[in-house]
Amino acid sequence: MKIGVIGAGYVGTTTSIVFAKYGYQVTLMDTNLEKIKTLYQSKLPFYEEGLKELLHDYIVEQRLSFTNSMEEIMKECNILFITVGTPSLENGKADLSFVEEVVTQMAKYMDDYKVIVIKSTVPVGTGDKLNDILKNELKIRNKAPTFDLVSNPEFLREGKALFDALYPDRVIVGCESTKAREIMKELYKDVDTSILFTTIKEAEMIKYASNAFLATKISFINELARLCDGKGVNINQVALGMGMDKRIGPDFLQAGIGYGGSCFPKDIKALLALAFDMDTPMPILQAVKDINETQSQWFMKKVKQELGNLEEKRIAILGLTFKPKTDDIREAPALKVIDYLLKNKASVTAYDPQGSEHVKKIYPTVTYTPTPLQALEDADAVLLLTEWQEILDIDWECAKSIISNPLLFDGRNALSPSNMMKLGYRYFGVGNTNF
Ligand code: UDX
Repeated sequence: MKIGVIGAGYVGTTTSIVFAKYGYQVTLMDTNLEKIKTLYQSKLPFYEEGLKELLHDYIVEQRLSFTNSMEEIMKECNILFITVGTPSLENGKADLSFVEEVVTQMAKYMDDYKVIVIKSTVPVGTGDKLNDILKNELKIRNKAPTFDLVSNPEFLREGKALFDALYPDRVIVGCESTKAREIMKELYKDVDTSILFTTIKEAEMIKYASNAFLATKISFINELARLCDGKGVNINQVALGMGMDKRIGPDFLQAGIGYGGSCFPKDIKALLALAFDMDTPMPILQAVKDINETQSQWFMKKVKQELGNLEEKRIAILGLTFKPKTDDIREAPALKVIDYLLKNKASVTAYDPQGSEHVKKIYPTVTYTPTPLQALEDADAVLLLTEWQEILDIDWECAKSIISNPLLFDGRNALSPSNMMKLGYRYFGVGNTNF
């Protein structure tokens, strides 16, 4: 079995490294030559713990190779994973042009049986569409259709990609051919988890439904947090109590400034667009999106209430990425916060262990510091927006002496309110204030 992965983004690169770890021979392809060159030098085009070392080892051991040629990957590999992006279009729908282009190119070089596995997140019905494109392209070239299409959605989380890929809760395989099903079973034989075989459309829907449900849990707890705030109820305790019920579960009930990243916002928009097209409104999901989009405004209202006019106020931001252990700033709540602060003429200083370079390109007037303490100097307020360990580990007692005004807004409920208050801070969290 020789595996080809097309699209050297986050999912494609991680998938390639993980299959190499399972002992397979893997070729990763991308049309972007710069990306391929970077990978050849054992450098990752993104930050993810633990992957760089494996990348280096597998290149040296010749388990992992790279190419920018579709012809080469089609000649060498019999299982081909498609992991190219499906970004949001203006209307919220997923842009399928990259996936469509890949299958069109594949048809040119398809001379023997291939299993084509869609890992990119695609709307329900895309498998059928790609099947038609492939068959049509092969027909034009007088070739017989010698392929099976499989949907094998990816559930890994940034920052925990390696763990999630090695120990998945489940593997979903949407597949309508016995031959491909056996190949997929063999492929995942060493992964200690259950495989659920479904139709292609069901697999496509499972991916969207899972992300939408997780986002629903977050928006639900955030909505509840707004209610708890100022009422003497601590949302963290509420979430703890709710999560002890096995039917609810403790995960994804952490109240905060809202979800970001490359998946939840994009996939929810795409599901809503599909619902709109089918004239089947999804009011719950619409509310999930609305709550998330207004969560940072709600949070900033608290900041404004405490500080009054923000003009010339020095605001320290701790954490810029959409979550810890990544350099990804896509849809990060910190961007909305910076935007609001700059529009209100505040002076902003920010610290993030990985995200500063990316945010600097969007907001060059913010001062970015190499250490968290430097960001806190003379601050009129501190806004904790991403719960990086480096930030939680700050010596808050020492920090108090360099902050102008010990006013702390914890957008992730990551610090202990009672500890911070004992140290003399005025603490404002999300649904855990004033108790
Ligand atoms: C998500 C899915 O978890 C993953 O299965 C899918 O493959 C891709 O999308 P990811 O975006 O990497 O993964 O991160 P995740 O850990 O899910 O967090 C998403 C956002 O939700 C982050 O901004 C995080 O801070 C926020 N979040 C998460 C909360 O606000 N509260 C929570 O309880 C959990």
